[in-house]
Amino acid sequence: MSMGSFVNSMDPRSGLEVIRDWNGVAQVVLRSPKGASARVSLHGGQVVSWRNDRGEDLLFTSSKAIFKPPNAMRGGIQMCFPQFGYSGTLERHGFARNRIWALDDEHPPLNHNDNGSKVSVDLILKPSEDDLKCWPHCFEFRLRVSLSKDGDLSLISRIRNVNGKPFSFSFAYHTYLSVSDISEVRIEGLETLDYLDNLSHKERFTEQGDAITFESEVDRVYVSSPNVVAILDHEKKHSFVIRKDGLPDVVVWNPWEKKSKTMVDFGDEEYKQMLCVDAAAVERAITLRPGEEWTGKLELSAVLSTNCSDHLDHPVSI
Ligand code: BG6
Repeated sequence: MSMGSFVNSMDPRSGLEVIRDWNGVAQVVLRSPKGASARVSLHGGQVVSWRNDRGEDLLFTSSKAIFKPPNAMRGGIQMCFPQFGYSGTLERHGFARNRIWALDDEHPPLNHNDNGSKVSVDLILKPSEDDLKCWPHCFEFRLRVSLSKDGDLSLISRIRNVNGKPFSFSFAYHTYLSVSDISEVRIEGLETLDYLDNLSHKERFTEQGDAITFESEVDRVYVSSPNVVAILDHEKKHSFVIRKDGLPDVVVWNPWEKKSKTMVDFGDEEYKQMLCVDAAAVERAITLRPGEEWTGKLELSAVLSTNCSDHLDHPVSI
């Protein structure tokens, strides 16, 4: 379907609207009846904004972000595929976040309970000729982004091997959460897990403390984590609950002061207001045989901090 027919088929009551960014790239705006919203760019399939019903930004966007393809803008939720970090021969975090995606109206029906309780958009990425030169594997990457009535954000990625041969990839929803003050934030759900420390040549350590807190640069891959993780931010009065499925690992990243100064698209002090917590498949690559499909789900909720611990018991519902 062309962008034109998509726009024409828009019903204002559907909670969907298509706008264009400064570069003429389409962004789809999702709105919940209670006033929450999310914006998804065709550049990278990136979620560039997620707001609660009070209009507060729940995702971090750098004030120095560069909104110009091909590079992904610093913030939101980036799709890292088919490589996470520098684990292979591709550019860091793979090429999916840098490509222009298309709207997908031919996706097979997803097995989920809609009932008008969510507004969703479906995007698709297929490799270009150039992509196939550097990563010679034919795939279809379908991404469904949904906003629930209550403002929860969910992302479902389905990656299919349409190649004649098996291929392997790593993956992450590289998620920039907006926080009040990094020194006041803690993560629950990762304690006692093993992690690979990107700051020590991926050496393996075991987490000792209670909850994870922050006082210096952190760049870790927590392996085989539970499917529910909470990020508590008492000053903001709300906390985040991440529910995931199909994604065994959690990447935690904050550049802290020194690294912040080396990033052109990031303010020197902005490390205080952000924390990346990425549902990911990094330690072990995912392998798809010809015709096989993989699904990885993420659900993000912002809840009142006082209610946060209750949510840790509830598994993924998307
Ligand atoms: C994190 C990685 O996920 O992303 C870090 O663990 C990396 O190592 C960071 O520095 C930012 O990456 P980029 O390519 O967006 O600057």
